[in-house]
Amino acid sequence: MDSKPEKKPHALCMPAPYQGHINPMLKLAKILHSKGFDITFVNTEFNHQRLLKSRGSDSLRGLPSFRFEAIPDGLSTPENHDASQDVPSVAKTMDEDCLDSFKSVIAKVNVTYSPVTCIVSDFHMGFTLAAAKDFNIPEFLLWTCGAGSLICFDQYPILLEKGLMPIKDPSFIVNGYLDTVLDFVPTMSGIRLKDIPPFVRYSNPGDEYMTRWVMLQSERAKSASAIIFNTFDELDRDVLDAVSSIYPPCYGIGPLNLLENKIVDKTLASLKSNLWKEDAECLSWLDTKAPSSVIYINFGSITVMTPQQLVEFGWGIAKSNYSFLWIIRSDLVIGESSILPAELLKETNDRGLLVSWCPQEQVLKHPSIGGFLTHSGWNSTIESISSGVPMISWPSTGDQQTNCWVCCNKWGVAMEIDNDVKSDDVRKLVVELMNGEKGNEMRKNAADLKKKAEEACTSPLGSSMVNLEKIIHHMNASTT
Ligand code: UDX
Repeated sequence: MDSKPEKKPHALCMPAPYQGHINPMLKLAKILHSKGFDITFVNTEFNHQRLLKSRGSDSLRGLPSFRFEAIPDGLSTPENHDASQDVPSVAKTMDEDCLDSFKSVIAKVNVTYSPVTCIVSDFHMGFTLAAAKDFNIPEFLLWTCGAGSLICFDQYPILLEKGLMPIKDPSFIVNGYLDTVLDFVPTMSGIRLKDIPPFVRYSNPGDEYMTRWVMLQSERAKSASAIIFNTFDELDRDVLDAVSSIYPPCYGIGPLNLLENKIVDKTLASLKSNLWKEDAECLSWLDTKAPSSVIYINFGSITVMTPQQLVEFGWGIAKSNYSFLWIIRSDLVIGESSILPAELLKETNDRGLLVSWCPQEQVLKHPSIGGFLTHSGWNSTIESISSGVPMISWPSTGDQQTNCWVCCNKWGVAMEIDNDVKSDDVRKLVVELMNGEKGNEMRKNAADLKKKAEEACTSPLGSSMVNLEKIIHHMNASTT
């Protein structure tokens, strides 16, 4: 009797077009490829070109069964692309203009390579669900932010309904309004208004749009086949249980950096997605430093700050007297080039290194790193936890404030620094982090979580390994 040939699973992966979203999606794509999937990875044209520039043409050559495609992001003129930070504009154009080009890519690879058997899309690219429906294939969503922030984003309708948000009068902020404790947020006892992702305050242009957009993505996500999180059960089980009661099945398969190390071979692992050219020399500089003696400072790919804030951070770090590796992106400082006072540079010349982008995962794993001053983007947070490095957190947007709250209050691995940053606070916190009683306690907590993360991703019965198998089973079930 003829048996029907098995179709090779083929996942089409669509990240949201920002560094902090492309990185975890590429890791997931590589993991799926290692588990027998063909992969088509779809970037925006803009990011595709940036990757070619920062990593060279080899970076996107891929493999016969792992290929890159690109679609326009809807921002028609190059001037609109001066910064990847314009999140509301990119979110809007992608949502409103990209469905047709996304469908064209599926149609093209269906014919050119092999039929796409599932879509793996960023939770924030919910427009892709319409394509999955049209092609009659299942779609899996990747939530790349902190799991707890999904619960907090889900409070937007309640905050609006209760009249707690948007902020009606800016003077409320000065009067401590944001310290109001919310008693209705599942798994987040003691969380304040301040810790909820800030779009819903409507204090910046584009916030009102982003609030509606967030609620739309959450509604759309309910029709996905499953949701994948870059976290692990031992870290976020309560949150995963809570979101599982609202959304399709939710699986934690993180930290993706550890799972990638475990599963993906060297050739494929060398496929990277840095949009900025990285300076690997800083690793040799770290080699010259004593264990746990260097504070690492990096605010990710989207955070911006004023020249004054840069200088306050600079003097605080300088006066702590610790060695430091500070990543100052070319577009980190608003309006001006990122210039630190000559006097400060002179004072720290023998113990500070400034570069514009680094291989962060390797830096965090380096034994000389004793602490991380971060903006609490989720990738930075989970990479720091999986390296056992405690943090000082200076959150600004999106899920960062919630990540900061969870790290400080649930896991005891971070201390928050006030948004109105002052050099003396920076100095005190750096000294505490590197060698104070609280810093040492946080280091122990981080080491404990690192161990649990490693177990989740390396032992055959580790929770992330088991969850990965469940997802693959779910994805494969649709191909036969
Ligand atoms: C954004 C949001 O800000 C964040 O809150 C959300 O969770 C994901 O999307 P971003 O601000 O860039 O991300 O921060 P983060 O999540 O930390 O992602 C940055 C990524 O770039 C990390 O994977 C980090 O390892 C990498 N990186 C950053 C480098 O490799 N080198 C650098 O110098 C800086």
